[in-house]
Amino acid sequence: AQNDRQAFQRINDLTVEYYRSVLEHSPAGAVARKYLEKRTATGEIAAAYQLGYASDRSDGLVQHLKANGADLEKALKLGIIRKSDRGWYDLFRSRLMFPICDPKGNTIAFAGRVLDASLPKYINSPESPLYHKSSVLFGINMALPAIRSENSVIIVEGYFDHLALFRAGIRNVVATCGTALTASHAALLKRHAAKVFTLFDSDTAGRKATIRSMELFLEQRLPAYVITLPAGDDPDSFLASNTVEDFRSRQTKARPAFDFFVRSLLAATPADSVDNKVRVIDELAPRFRKIADPVERDLYEKEICRLMAIAPHAFRKRLGGMDLTAR
Ligand code: UTP
Ligand code: MN
Ligand code: MN
Ligand code: MN
Ligand code: MN
Repeated sequence: AQNDRQAFQRINDLTVEYYRSVLEHSPAGAVARKYLEKRTATGEIAAAYQLGYASDRSDGLVQHLKANGADLEKALKLGIIRKSDRGWYDLFRSRLMFPICDPKGNTIAFAGRVLDASLPKYINSPESPLYHKSSVLFGINMALPAIRSENSVIIVEGYFDHLALFRAGIRNVVATCGTALTASHAALLKRHAAKVFTLFDSDTAGRKATIRSMELFLEQRLPAYVITLPAGDDPDSFLASNTVEDFRSRQTKARPAFDFFVRSLLAATPADSVDNKVRVIDELAPRFRKIADPVERDLYEKEICRLMAIAPHAFRKRLGGMDLTAR
């Protein structure tokens, strides 16, 4: 099994090397070099993250692996090449390549972005013996020292969001890789930091992800704060037109995730009728129950009752006569 692991690892290393050389040196890579310039992810950043390019050639990686004596069946298991009646071919074509690393910096998977507006925008290599996506966070290998020294971590949605913050000197930042945050992500982060900030895109999907992640952090008892951005922005686009200080000032104003949740619920369903109030309480209840700390519960209960102008005893009854001292 150890030998297997080494063989898989070597294939990924050869793959990184191949895509890097296409990006750096080949005529086919010019379009990707230009793209990276536009997104200001050249030079040191591209090198530190080992960014690469998969050209439109159908078997460039296959040939590189073959030439280096790699076992193609193993590469097939990693999902980076495939097999048809006509032979072996590459998974990634005409895509900017992001190696996805484990905390030690070993490449365990890849993500590829198109350079134009075609869809899907990103594809990832599939789950494999090296890659279990529910527990992997992009950038963790780069971010761990800062996560530990600041004892906090910022979670973003995208690869370029991570790069933009890192480049701006904000280094305790990791990205989910096209999956929703999972309990094992939250558990992993809890091992390294006392506090998390979510910094998801300022759109409907981002707000949903914020609230879903809040539940996971409540379950892990990991204090979570929400950094918000102007509507339509993501961290990368925000930093393209604002300063690091602008970002820091938003981070300073980050609100506790539960507070953010209550307020977005009330913004979507104003507590202006009995029906609406009941609906809001029923939406709140399952999350409210996950607040472990009795003091926090008490304070949130007071806040909710105040915002909705309802009596605490009615709130508690509606929650199902829940015992506020037990979990
Ligand atoms: P976004 O749609 O917000 O993309 O998806 P982005 O990161 O801002 O992309 P850029 O700035 O246009 O390059 C957020 C993340 O969701 C995953 C990727 O991890 C992406 O970074 N995703 C998105 C996919 O896996 N597949 C997709 O087709 C789109
Ligand atoms: Mn798995
Ligand atoms: Mn998004
Ligand atoms: Mn985005
Ligand atoms: Mn973006």
